[in-house]
Amino acid sequence: MELSALFKLSYGLFIAGTEFEGKKNACVINTAAQATAEPARMIVTMLKSDYTASLIEKKGSLTISVMSLKTPMTLIQDFGMRSGRDCDKFENYPFCTDAFGNPYLTDTMTAVMSLRVENTIDLETHLLFVCMVEDAGNLSDEKPMTYADYRILKSGGSVGESVKEEAAEAPKKYVCTVCHYEYDGDVPFEELPDDYVCPICGVGKDMFEAV
Ligand SMILES: Cc1cc2nc3c(=O)[nH]c(=O)nc-3n(C[C@H](O)[C@H](O)[C@H](O)COP(=O)(O)O)c2cc1C
Repeated sequence: MELSALFKLSYGLFIAGTEFEGKKNACVINTAAQATAEPARMIVTMLKSDYTASLIEKKGSLTISVMSLKTPMTLIQDFGMRSGRDCDKFENYPFCTDAFGNPYLTDTMTAVMSLRVENTIDLETHLLFVCMVEDAGNLSDEKPMTYADYRILKSGGSVGESVKEEAAEAPKKYVCTVCHYEYDGDVPFEELPDDYVCPICGVGKDMFEAV
């Protein structure tokens, strides 16, 4: 099976945010999508090991904010590569709260949805939240960032036709097929020891795919 084929599915990049018993937290996800239009429903899939997922499960509601192309890589690192168990991710970022008291970032996000969880489906490694869209709003006119844009921007490119060609010639990247962490260490991926594990979700080297 060519798992890299899955990277041709188009995704956006989002921040899932929630607040439970005074603890607010959020993390980066790419697995949010609209499921039905009337009434508006969305599905959101998250790793069980994400602190945000455990808070959403208890709270029963969340925000999804849509990153724009203006979103800096530092924000994606702060919300997607460390856990709110160990820090207050909102410390240096302006945010608002929705009617459920769940936080969402305001700067560089282009839209926000306020979701109420209707059903939670256990997918072994992940939880799938089926949600009603209770509210939604535009935050700016900036274009949404896709996951493909993120990969180009992360490797130092800018998003545009000429840069896409340049990125196509760039050396292979290794991406975790479980949580989408992109290896960016100094040691070439091929030379990492066999017991190397993904720093985000803990799966082994064999779960990385060259893209
Ligand atoms: C680009 C990118 C995409 C990600 N996509 C997802 C995703 O779709 N689902 C998920 O559960 N985690 C995803 N993650 C990983 C979480 O954001 C990460 O594990 C985060 O540290 C969890 O923080 P928390 O423990 O505070 O919830 C992604 C991370 C990055 C950088």
